[in-house]
Amino acid sequence: METIDYKLEAARKALTYVREGHTVGLGAGSTIAHLVRELAAAPGLRESISVVTASFNTRLLLQEHGFMIRETATVAQLDLHFDGCDQFDRSLTALKSGGGVHTLEKLLAAMAQRFILAGDGPKYVEKLLPTVPVVIELIPDALSFVQQALRRLYPDARPQLRLSNKKDGAVITERGNLLMDIFFTAFPPVAEINPQLKAIPGVLETSLFYRMAHEAIIAGKNGVTVVFP
Ligand code: 5RP
Repeated sequence: METIDYKLEAARKALTYVREGHTVGLGAGSTIAHLVRELAAAPGLRESISVVTASFNTRLLLQEHGFMIRETATVAQLDLHFDGCDQFDRSLTALKSGGGVHTLEKLLAAMAQRFILAGDGPKYVEKLLPTVPVVIELIPDALSFVQQALRRLYPDARPQLRLSNKKDGAVITERGNLLMDIFFTAFPPVAEINPQLKAIPGVLETSLFYRMAHEAIIAGKNGVTVVFP
């Protein structure tokens, strides 16, 4: 039996949003990689759009396909921004950072006139579940201080410094920072998480995209649907 790649289905739907002349933001992950390939294959589109990306891997793929890539620092507004996520709920609040680039991804999401999540069905839940951690990016000097602050703020949570798969120490982000995965047993009120974490000196950004997305494309066995908050 042929298996359907739902992320590809979501990417194909995302492609239909893009018009000639658009400035388009692209996040990270396999759904976005599908979208890059779909954009590259669409007649006339690649030459007429400009793209901005949060991810080194997405950038490499865009370069491979000859897209006009703009530096994020030169852009204040995007027509569209597409990104995947690890989980999102009915309010389109999303948990991200499988790829560890959420700080830049959130900046692009904030720049977008239309921020669209795209992914496969299992990521869509009624209410966020603590099966996915909230990730913070922090400056290395703040490591012990942030660990202490997290113990005081969330005594029941398990913060874990993200370690490299190669077992050679901590993951260092593209901007030289650390990542901390905070595993909750139960989430505190979701609206309070970002203000609490971002008030800790040394914390740059969290992977919780609180009510930022304007819509979400979900592909699953019932087809492709677009949901709004
Ligand atoms: C990167 C992310 C990714 O979008 C997320 O991990 C989903 O990726 P995929 O499309 O491969 O399922 O959050 O920070």
